[in-house]
Formats: sequence, C-alpha cells, structure tokens
Amino acid sequence: MQILFTDTQPKNVRLNARIVNKGDSLADLDPALSEGSDIARFKGNPGQVFEGFVSVDGALSRVAIAGAGAADAADRRLNLERSGAGLTAKYLRSGETEMVLDLGFAGLNGDDAAAVLTGVFLRGWSLDQYRTKLAQEKKVSLQTVHVIGAPEGTQAAWEREAAIAKGVEFTKKLVTEPANIVYPESFVAMCEEAFAGTGAEITVLDEAQMTELGMGALLGVGQGSARESRLLAIRWNGGEKDEAPTVLVGKGVTFDTGGISIKPAPGMEDMKWDMGGAGAVAGGMLALVSRKAKANVIGVMGLVENMPDGNAIRPGDVLTTMSGQTVEVLNTDAEGRLVLCDALHWAQEQYKPARVIDFATLTGAMIVALGNEHGGVFANDDTLADQLLGAGKATNDKLWRMPIGPAYDKLIDSPIADMKNIGGRWGGSITAAQFLHRFIKPGTPWAHCDIAGMVWSDKPGHAHDKGATGYGARLIDRLVADNFES
Ligand code: BES
Ligand code: MN
Ligand code: ZN
Repeated sequence: MQILFTDTQPKNVRLNARIVNKGDSLADLDPALSEGSDIARFKGNPGQVFEGFVSVDGALSRVAIAGAGAADAADRRLNLERSGAGLTAKYLRSGETEMVLDLGFAGLNGDDAAAVLTGVFLRGWSLDQYRTKLAQEKKVSLQTVHVIGAPEGTQAAWEREAAIAKGVEFTKKLVTEPANIVYPESFVAMCEEAFAGTGAEITVLDEAQMTELGMGALLGVGQGSARESRLLAIRWNGGEKDEAPTVLVGKGVTFDTGGISIKPAPGMEDMKWDMGGAGAVAGGMLALVSRKAKANVIGVMGLVENMPDGNAIRPGDVLTTMSGQTVEVLNTDAEGRLVLCDALHWAQEQYKPARVIDFATLTGAMIVALGNEHGGVFANDDTLADQLLGAGKATNDKLWRMPIGPAYDKLIDSPIADMKNIGGRWGGSITAAQFLHRFIKPGTPWAHCDIAGMVWSDKPGHAHDKGATGYGARLIDRLVADNFES
C-alpha cells in the first residue's frame, strides 16, 4: 500500500475518511452522517468504523469515520493503530482503489498520526499470489491512501514507522510462505535480496563449514531432510566501533514434522511457521537496518528442516554439540533446542556479544501456559528481562516473565550423555529454557523468548489479518531503540 502526503484535497476520490476520538462531535458533517452515526450507535470506540454516503456537487461521496477511543486512554498508541487498521480492514477488498484520510481531527500530533498510518499500512498486507481463482470482488483493491491535514511532524514520524513496518511485512512474508517455498537455502536468498544495498553484512555457513565447526546438534536435526541446513548471520554496525554487539538468535525450522518422533497429521501444516523465531529476527534486523539504528546488532538464524527418513536421527541417538557437550535425543520433535544450542554457542564464540536474546516457537507447553496473548521470556538477567517486557508493552508484542533455576535444570540430566533433550511431563517450556541456558557462557546476559503462541493467529488483529502476525519485529526494534542506541 502506498501512502502519499498532500496539501490539497485530491480530486475524483470517492472515499473520504477521518479519525475521531470517543465522544467527539460530528456536528460539522452533513446531518445524514452526524445523525446517521448516532443511529448506527457509532461511539468512536477503538477500531469502530461508521460509513455513510452523501452527495457532494451531484457526486456520491463515501465517508468513513474511524474511532480511536478516548484521547487520554493508557493504550492510546495501540488504539490509534486500531483506528487506521479498521479503515484498511473495511476497504482493502471493497473495490475502492484510493482513500483520502484526513488526519486533522481528534487532536492528533505527528506521532499519533504516524501510529494511525502504521495501522493503515500493516493491516493491508496479504499473500494472495497463489489464489489464482480469487473472485474479482475479493481481491485487494485499495492501493493508495492520500493523507491530508497531517499534523506537524507526521511525515518524519511516518518515515521511521514505515522502516519498521517494512520489517514487520518481511516477517509476515517469511512466516506465511509455505515450506516448499521457504526452506533454509531460500530463506537465505530472501534475506540476501531484502538486505541488498543496505550496508548490512551477511554471512552464511553451509553444511561442510558447520561440520568443520562440530555443530552436531543443528546438523543432526537437518540430516533427515533433502534440504541442506544453513546458518545465517546478518550484521549491522550502526553503533560505536568498540561497542560489543547485541546478538539475536532465531529458531528457523522451516518445517517441523517432528522427525522420527513424528507429529500427528491434523494441524501439522502449522509447522511451516516453526521458523517464526528466525522470521522475527530477520524482520527485526530489517527494521533496524532500514532506519539506520545507531547500534551494533547481529541476527543469527539456525535454518533446518526436520524430516523423517532413512538418514534421520533416532530417539536414543547421542549428538555432540559445537560446545563439546553431548545430548541424548529422546524425542526428535524437541528439535528447536538442538538447532539453537549450536547457533547460540557459535554466536557467542564469533561475536563476544554484550547480550544474547533468542526467539523461538519452541514449545506447545508455552501456548498451554500463556495462550496467544503473551510470549514467555526466560532470562538469567533481570535488567534484560525488564527491557524486553518494556519493549513488549510499548509495541503490543507482549511478553510475560517465566522462571528458570537449578531445580528445573536437574530435570534434563541424562544417564548416558551430558543432558537429554526433553524433561518430564511438567514445565515443558522451562526445561526447554534450561537446556538453552547450558549453552550460555557464564557472565553473558541472556534471554530466551518462547513465542510459539504468537507468530500465527486464527483471527485478525490490529496489525494483521488472520495468519502471520509479524510478531517480534517491532519488539526487537523497540528493545534496541529504547536501550541500546547511542
Ligand atoms: N515447534 C514445536 C513447538 C510448537 C508447537 C510450536 C505448537 C507452535 C505450535 C516444537 O519443535 C515441538 O515439537 N515441541 C514439542 C516438545 C516436546 C517433544 C518436548 C512440544 O511442544 O510438543
Ligand atoms: Mn518439534
Ligand atoms: Zn519445532
């Protein structure tokens, strides 16, 4: 979707929209609209949209009024996004190709207006490319939003927001594309294309290089797949030369069948988005790079496909990780931690980071605990945990703190190796986090975000249609902006 700023009312655009707060007077409008909105019980609630038609100089004008809630609401920013998203949701496939959006109402400042535009823009993303028989009236029609009445500072604020939104869209695309399109090598290729010319440095390790480094756990997961595994690093040096980087690590299982411990057939298609952690890291990096963040940040993604075949790892196999620690694989479906442990170890060796944060659709148990409202954050450092929780609140990519500790750690001791890859029946998300913790060097602040419940949604939200939510890209951008930028 294209967002254009203009000073004069564009001619020949039928659809005209404005944003109002809860309870705002609409007395300046035609009575058919002001009284009509009353009759329709339009209150200006966040995301609520009223539509009316009026005749202007003999031509019919379609007028939309979107609610942004109370001006002093605690979640004002989110409500503003909802108002913009409400407009897009209503008109995206309406047949209208253009909309004029007047942001000169509701007492908006430049940041507020940019938040509205963020909602307008993000709610517009969809992947319709494979729906070749889609009826004409169901196709996306809305292409251009002409912004008038923009408060001072809107364009500058939107420039920054648009860079971040680009990252969110990239995350959505990576997550939405099926596993025959997004597999380790193509994931890398998509990133190479997205980051080309941005100044970000890309490093890719192939299987031979990972074998050389001894990444037996990551390679073990990939060895049942016809697709080759990859380790991808995207580096952005926007900070001071001597400043130790923030390292983000993503689980990129491009499809998770479970391997020999195969998953049941119903719902297995969901496991195309088991690369949502890597998708969040890639999108978060694109946001940072696009707005030229003043920080040193590196995104590391472990990319593998978990398949069962004659060469696949078996339950009972013992793998040697790059760290030298050994793992008894009791369940080949607990593969994410096997991918992450080598990626985490490599990232620490390679970059000597100031802090490490990983993102992973790691456990179904996380969804049992927190549903689809919060990701879980496990950390060995309270400051880093608080920074993540704060960024989550600010962006609505919400997180909730979960515990770790030695008593949980004991649950993954193995009689034949240094550890096993599953704990018992209880606390499955915590034992997974404990596993990862064993690969963090003492003294390195680390946080693990289990986002299994967050990357995909069966219903539309304020910044997405049903499907990929884009979770994590904005969280990462905000974490860096608020805490690690000079
Ligand atoms: N990718 C799954 C976790 C998952 C499940 C993410 C549902 C999103 C939705 C992960 O690899 C997995 O299979 N975990 C197992 C771990 C178990 C074998 C200890 C699980 O959660 O069942
Ligand atoms: Mn699995
Ligand atoms: Zn998985």
